[in-house]
Amino acid sequence: MTATVHQRPAFDVLAVSSRDRLGEGPWWDAARAELLWVDILGRRVRRATLDGAESKPLDTPSEVGFAVRDSDGRVLAGLSDGLAVSDPEVAAWNPIWAGTHDAATVRINDGKTDRHGRVWFGTMHRTEAEPAASLFSFGGGTATSRLTGITTSNGLGWSPDGSLFYYTDSAARTIWVFDCDPSGEISNRRVFVTDPEDQAPDGLTVDATGCVWGAKWNGGRVVRYSPEGRVDRVLELPVAKPTSVAFAGPGLDTLVVTSARMDDGDGELAGAVLLVDAGVSGLPEQPASVALL
Ligand code: BGC
Ligand code: CA
Repeated sequence: MTATVHQRPAFDVLAVSSRDRLGEGPWWDAARAELLWVDILGRRVRRATLDGAESKPLDTPSEVGFAVRDSDGRVLAGLSDGLAVSDPEVAAWNPIWAGTHDAATVRINDGKTDRHGRVWFGTMHRTEAEPAASLFSFGGGTATSRLTGITTSNGLGWSPDGSLFYYTDSAARTIWVFDCDPSGEISNRRVFVTDPEDQAPDGLTVDATGCVWGAKWNGGRVVRYSPEGRVDRVLELPVAKPTSVAFAGPGLDTLVVTSARMDDGDGELAGAVLLVDAGVSGLPEQPASVALL
């Protein structure tokens, strides 16, 4: 058995003009060599190359939980009350799905595309107190509810062959793993990891070897787990609230870590996007398939 490796990795700070309040949802657009991410509370979708050349952010009419590109090059975002698409140069949002939740108490949170270009996303109870949220997949103009009884839907991802689905409820401090078939059916839910009380699992990604990297809200760290759920590496970072992770760059070997600046003590770099040389490669993201929308 190999011992857990604790590291304080060297990192760069993405050289953009401002920090995020609640930076989230890093998503690497390989075709344009561009990182997309959101500032949920700042209500904007941001994009930049890894050397910090930033395009004009796209303001959103409400909190924005996540954003990806679709196969037509549009930006598809999860707004607080539904999904919408926009031209990447002009923030003109066209709704493609109106949520059935009460956006006063529940909003859309983390989401991303699966290996087939289907969009998966969840909602969260705004005060994280009631299991009033759900997980959805979107297709054919409608969202299919995949799970209910969730409080804070958060990080999600798939194993390299797409047969496993990892899924987080931050309020339950748990990441589960499901079997997943090509049609998108998920089954056989079991606990992958549970976090201690002082931190919560937030965004996650899966690397090319099938290990799972998870950001720990209030834990100031990113943890890499083996596919069996064993802690393999702990990256200690100078931000108390790392929120999500993704692999980026030409070799998909730069680990991008978004973060939040919400409370005193979140750290001087709180709200920055950190770039860590992971020494491991990630898996390419699929744009949302317009044929499946
Ligand atoms: C949510 C925050 C929440 C945090 C921890 C983030 O994804 O957007 O509102 O407090 O997770 O649960
Ligand atoms: Ca999150």
